[in-house]
Amino acid sequence: MSPAPHERPLPACASRWDNAPNLSDYTTTYVQFKWSQAQQMLLQGADTEAPYHLNIAHLIVDRHAAGPLREQLALRWLGPDGQTRDYSYAQLSALSNRFANVLQDLDLGPNPTVFSLTGRVPELYIAALGTLKAGGVFCPLYAAFGPEPIRTRMVAGKATVLLTTTALYRKKIAPIRASLPTLKAVLLVDAPDSPNADDTNYNLQHLLTAAAEHFVIPPTTTEQPALLHFTSGTTGQPKGAVHVHEAVVAHYMSARWVLDLRPGDVYWCTADPGWVTGTSYGIIAPLAVGATLICDAQEFHPERWYRILQEQRVTVWYTAPTAIRMLMSHGAQTAAQFDFSQLRLTASVGEPLNPDAVNWGRTTFGTPFHDTWWQTETGSIMIANFPALAIKPGAMGKPLPGIEVALVQRQEDGSVDILDTTEAQGELALRTGWPSMFRAYLNEPARYQQCFAHGWYLSGDLARRDADGYYWFVGRADDVIKSAGHLIGPFEVESTLLAHPAVAEAAVIGKPDAVAGELVLAFVTLKAGYAATDSLRRELLGFARKRLGPAVAPRSIEFSGPLPKTRSGKILRRLLKARELGLPEGDLSTLETSEPDSDNAPK
Ligand code: WT7
Repeated sequence: MSPAPHERPLPACASRWDNAPNLSDYTTTYVQFKWSQAQQMLLQGADTEAPYHLNIAHLIVDRHAAGPLREQLALRWLGPDGQTRDYSYAQLSALSNRFANVLQDLDLGPNPTVFSLTGRVPELYIAALGTLKAGGVFCPLYAAFGPEPIRTRMVAGKATVLLTTTALYRKKIAPIRASLPTLKAVLLVDAPDSPNADDTNYNLQHLLTAAAEHFVIPPTTTEQPALLHFTSGTTGQPKGAVHVHEAVVAHYMSARWVLDLRPGDVYWCTADPGWVTGTSYGIIAPLAVGATLICDAQEFHPERWYRILQEQRVTVWYTAPTAIRMLMSHGAQTAAQFDFSQLRLTASVGEPLNPDAVNWGRTTFGTPFHDTWWQTETGSIMIANFPALAIKPGAMGKPLPGIEVALVQRQEDGSVDILDTTEAQGELALRTGWPSMFRAYLNEPARYQQCFAHGWYLSGDLARRDADGYYWFVGRADDVIKSAGHLIGPFEVESTLLAHPAVAEAAVIGKPDAVAGELVLAFVTLKAGYAATDSLRRELLGFARKRLGPAVAPRSIEFSGPLPKTRSGKILRRLLKARELGLPEGDLSTLETSEPDSDNAPK
């Protein structure tokens, strides 16, 4: 049977390739590959006697700084107003040594947890690497978070150190400083010249200058925690996914196989460093292979982005569907003024990549976007469209060698049924044991256990497998919202709305949006004595935005009558969503029947 038109594969992209892709025979490699081989490849030439040879920062920077890549550009920062700052592997190694010494000199105790709350600045890379060298755990936060999401995460992660800017400190940290008892030092990237404004706030530049450039990494094991990334679930507080030093093995292999990176590539990952993509594929994976990173300090801007691709001669570009759709909506004329002939591979992650976007990439850049799928919990790319394989526009691709994927159906007794037909649809599950698998949800062992059944990690995503073994994204199995690539937990938003004196009940859903994928929509029931007016709506939107920040706060609020609930009192967000979208309401057997007709809702 010939594939449906939307499933018809595009030929593999090889036109701009002088050499074969790093992964040229997917099928054979998939059958033969073992993760132990990857570790050997990564450690080739390494001094495996050194007790720190498995430390991520040693493997991705110091090792290159001690070899032929020593003077190669590791990081080029494009600042505001056209200034640039360049760092070779040797310089990045020396500066991260200094940062490690800064942490040691501050006498913070063993394994400090270093949070960052900054935009895209070079100090973020230096701090991440220096923290790993010092045996600490690095936890990036998104600078567009408001004080509330920041506080929740820093308290849960027992932050020891925070890297931030003066402006962000004043606006977001000063109001919550008193509720962060574990925080011993704030390192200000851009503090004015008077150092040590108070006891715990330091000017990072002064500390770096004063610190020694020589640092010996303490012994590091593969299972030592390295990174902490917060992610959101349907219920409860955000979850802190813990990753260990061994994760670098998966970052390295996926950088080679999926992004096809090699030493000398100019690589641009547009992801914000406050999310897992920004560290896994913005820092670790590309440095592991010896590429040059481009870091753009500024926000999205179509012309500047095209100019960066052209002027920096970017060869490999990793971006996200929302950005691609924003470029598409900006029109073809702008793109046509630029030369993208050096671009060898473009890839995307974070949300469904529509077939139009894949094809638009081919027309505009001469190479289609390669969709990739993974999660905070998986730590690295699990499913991808590989350069040597035909792309099916709209499909996420095939599993990486070393990754066993199944589609499963959860049973009521907690077990799972594996759907073993060639074509199937179910929850996407991954056989446990890949190097970058999260090792814990911080302080929540039960929640961690719930993600696994019979040796499978259950992703919470629904997917379909076609006759050729490609996986297609179907939807989330839970109520989390994906807006502009950012995962948003409805509970976090609802809790903030409930803190307003007028709000009796709140439920939050993702409303489809052509560019951002979904936008946050809140349904709110008011307490007696409050009228559903436009000015109250504006007040609530402002209230939420101030506390949550623009990336998380609802975009719109609808005043509603009592919200639909199960008999046990759980708000049925799915039903609200179905009603909002005019979709079938599904199984309502658990619905609490005393719910008044929604026509009674205040308008
Ligand atoms: C969720 C994970 C993106 C990695 C880092 C952020 C959705 C991810 C795709 C894709 C459709 C995708 C899933 C997943 N997602 N990639 N290619 N197509 N959906 O990870 O914030 O933990 O988000 O993003 O729903 O579970 P995250």
